[in-house]
Amino acid sequence: MATKLLEDLPGVGPATAEKLREAGFNSVESIAVASPGELVAAAEVGEATASKIIAGAREAADVGGFETGDRILERRKLVGKINTGSKSFNELLGGGMETQSIVELYGEFGSGKTQVAHQMAINVQLPLEMGGLNGSVIIIDTENTFRPERIDQMVHGLPPGPDGQTWETEEFLKHISVARAFNSNHQILLAESAMDLADKMKDSGKPVRLIIVDSVTAHFRAEYVGRGTLANRQQKLNKHLHDLMRFGDLNNALILVTNQVMAKPDTFFGDPTKPVGGHVLGHTATFRLYLRKSKGEKRIARLVDSPNLPDGEAVFSVTTEGLKD
Ligand code: GTP
Ligand code: MG
Repeated sequence: MATKLLEDLPGVGPATAEKLREAGFNSVESIAVASPGELVAAAEVGEATASKIIAGAREAADVGGFETGDRILERRKLVGKINTGSKSFNELLGGGMETQSIVELYGEFGSGKTQVAHQMAINVQLPLEMGGLNGSVIIIDTENTFRPERIDQMVHGLPPGPDGQTWETEEFLKHISVARAFNSNHQILLAESAMDLADKMKDSGKPVRLIIVDSVTAHFRAEYVGRGTLANRQQKLNKHLHDLMRFGDLNNALILVTNQVMAKPDTFFGDPTKPVGGHVLGHTATFRLYLRKSKGEKRIARLVDSPNLPDGEAVFSVTTEGLKD
């Protein structure tokens, strides 16, 4: 998908483009799905101009839409599976974590969500023979928990390569692009600009095959408090997840997101082990995994509501060298 500038759209000069960006419309796609009223407010243009801009954006953007079954089948044939480092975890997932799908890891603090994310950021880069996809990674870090030092420890825990080669941490870090999201709107924008970054890397020999959002719900949860804000929150979260899904389809990438559970004993509503985000995330995630702590380094992953795999559990370990059986 060619990256188009807002300035290329009919009726958009530099000043209008600037106002649109300030209002958060920083891609042609975001304008294509906007309403004229939104643009009128954002860019101080007339209704007619707004409609013209949107029509131009719709023409220029690839906003998705209907696709014939044979094309979907073609795309599904490209689905890759990424080794988790644990045999039992892989088996639970039918061989590994699939591209073109959203995997949601939910669980209490310390259950290992961020550890799994770090391991996948490494494993996706491995050669096919080792269950990798020779791909790069984009991480949207909302809690400032990405640690290059942890990548280093886990790289040291990798088995030797197919030709017996050893691994360099720096090579892995070079192919992990991390951005911190400071609030939910910023997080949404980062997911949009991830598309541009992935476009640039498409022909790099190591295209993006994994996008991680850790945590996908924390900002939304913190910002939209109180019952009256729930619908608004779900709507935004829904849009964000669909952006991510589209990213996964267009780039043949895995979308890995983490989510807390409502662990506070003072919650009066609902099951304390239910994930935040409720139904929106429930229907969008293709694989939902509930992680919990067991003895010592052991962790239990339970597969919940998968469309084509039986529910079940896997035991794996989070060690200093990474995920193991
Ligand atoms: P929140 O983000 O707080 O919700 O938790 P999380 O699910 O992301 O937890 P995370 O993945 O950060 O897990 C932290 C746990 O991983 C620690 O409590 C340790 O049990 C384990 N862990 C982290 N680093 C190491 C390490 O170097 N060696 C070992 N053996 N375990 C580690
Ligand atoms: Mg975490």
